[in-house]
Amino acid sequence: CLNGHDHFMHKEIHEQPAILSDLNGHDDQWCQMMAQMPDAMVKAQHISVVACGTSYYAGMTARSWFEKYAGISISVEFASEFRYRAGAIRPGRAGLFISQSGETADTLAGLRHFNNHGCPTIAVVNVPTSAMAREAEMAVPTRAGSEIGVASTKAFTAQLATLLRLAIELGSRNGTLDTKNYRRIRREMEEMPNLVREVLSNEHIIKSVTSLLGDCTSTLFVGRGDCYPLALEGALKLKEISYIHAEGFAAGELKHGPIALIDENMPVFVLAPDTPLLVKTSSNAREIAARNGKLFVLTDDDEAAGFKGEKGVEFIKMPPCTEDQIPFVYVTALQLISYHAALDRSADVDRPRNLAKSVTVE
Ligand code: F6R
Repeated sequence: CLNGHDHFMHKEIHEQPAILSDLNGHDDQWCQMMAQMPDAMVKAQHISVVACGTSYYAGMTARSWFEKYAGISISVEFASEFRYRAGAIRPGRAGLFISQSGETADTLAGLRHFNNHGCPTIAVVNVPTSAMAREAEMAVPTRAGSEIGVASTKAFTAQLATLLRLAIELGSRNGTLDTKNYRRIRREMEEMPNLVREVLSNEHIIKSVTSLLGDCTSTLFVGRGDCYPLALEGALKLKEISYIHAEGFAAGELKHGPIALIDENMPVFVLAPDTPLLVKTSSNAREIAARNGKLFVLTDDDEAAGFKGEKGVEFIKMPPCTEDQIPFVYVTALQLISYHAALDRSADVDRPRNLAKSVTVE
């Protein structure tokens, strides 16, 4: 059942192009879902996205899609905090719950909280028979197939693709997104499987760059804009399977404290795709380099990132992609980094210590 892969995590990372291709279909189901979507959801002024762990980072990544394509204001909440926040649910709000298992205790409690208030609820879940799928007003399947590795990989990219599709379907239904842009985004989604394949074909390079982490005990991941939640996800993935301490930061926050951590023993992964924000991210990376931090720069343009030919800077070359494609492409590289870092430390990548696949107690 490993299909020639050494671990489920590796198999699941490599399944992502096929899952993304499949998610580009199902037009009839989307038509049906959108026709059945409660009016209160389409007209919601604010959506609270509630989730845990990697699913929470999928929600954080999707926030800008709902804002720019559906014109809906979004807050993204840790389910474990949200469920105890009296007054967090107001009239005119809708709840969007993201979960691979559909059984996570805190997210399910948040969903029930919304249902009890009579507010519309949507669950974006990978397990169609789960409690969340049953109890939400509407369930949207992420179709990643069963995920065995404890660290979530393919479920995350499937969540992203489903959330992007939901954002553009909502936007075209509520009149925020015009047909031209809807078609452009669908075309970009069609290109995603090949972009992810390109990253996977560079796995040997990612593996050899990762081996340079040596026996470091702590790492940082930094990014701006849509790369900020990816930095958090990259750090979570690395710490949970390799047990290397890792933190993710918004690049612009570095100088408000975290930069004090930088010295020659601190590897820093910088997510630096060529976007209008690159110049800012590179200037943050320069500050890290000036304090002897060891830079690992993920970029499609090392010249624009400002480090071309510089000694001591490691590059992980990424395919050029559009803004909405970045999360899918860059997270695949981050998954491979944590996978190989964990193998270098002989960790059990599929069953990391102290973790369960589904967290059904608080
Ligand atoms: C990390 C990971 C966890 C889950 C979290 C939520 O790799 O898998 O952080 O994302 O426990 O689980 P679900 O999505 O099942 O609600």
